[in-house]
Amino acid sequence: MRVALTRLRRLASLTAATVAMAVLAGCHTDMWHQPKAKPQGANVFFADGKTDRTPVLNTVPVGNLRKDDAFYTGKVGNKPVPQIPVRVTRELLQRGQQQYEAFCMPCHGKVGDGQGMIAQRGLALRRPPATFHTDRLRNMPVGYFYDVITNGFGVMYSYASRIEPEDRWAIAAYIRVLQLSQYTKREQLTPEDLKKLQEETTNTESKP
Ligand code: HEC
Repeated sequence: MRVALTRLRRLASLTAATVAMAVLAGCHTDMWHQPKAKPQGANVFFADGKTDRTPVLNTVPVGNLRKDDAFYTGKVGNKPVPQIPVRVTRELLQRGQQQYEAFCMPCHGKVGDGQGMIAQRGLALRRPPATFHTDRLRNMPVGYFYDVITNGFGVMYSYASRIEPEDRWAIAAYIRVLQLSQYTKREQLTPEDLKKLQEETTNTESKP
């Protein structure tokens, strides 16, 4: 008899708790059903029944005016610019090296000779990654490299979504460094560089 009573009590308190929960929860439905517009959803407020609004013609999102053609496209009047439109500093070149080694080196190689790991093994490309050490590319205006990074070239895809304009210039500047590192005319060297070069050549020659 006593056992049955305890059970009954327990059942009663459980029911009370459930009812209390349901009542309390009821107070919050207004927070749970918040009226909001979902992207691409239907909307009775607008005549065309769509939530998405077409931006007014010629609308430019804040910070996206991109008026400076040379900086944002690497071209002026459809021609690649001959000069880097940002100040070339040691930091820019170092940033360029870091970005080059992250994004381009796997295919184009550490010195830009097209002998990256992907070219040596793995991915079979329809055309091999280019070497930057040809007369054609040495004579290309620097804006050309910016353009290739931005729009891709042949079978190489665009890096516009992954590399910001400032970093594209840093890479373009670093490609110039690589080109100079593999091909410099004697006349272009400073007397100190010439001396260092001579020392190095004699050193290597004297080695067995
Ligand atoms: C997945 C491999 C791959 C990566 C990564 C890659 N490239 Fe290329 N790149 C190629 C291939 C392949 C070609 C040759 C395309 C063709 O001839 O159709 C090429 C060509 C080029 C050319 C030569 C264009 C010409 O006129 O001949 C340049 C410059 C270049 N890439 C720059 C870069 C830069 C800078 C990066 C890094 C931001 C980069 N590439 C990353 C594969 C790659």
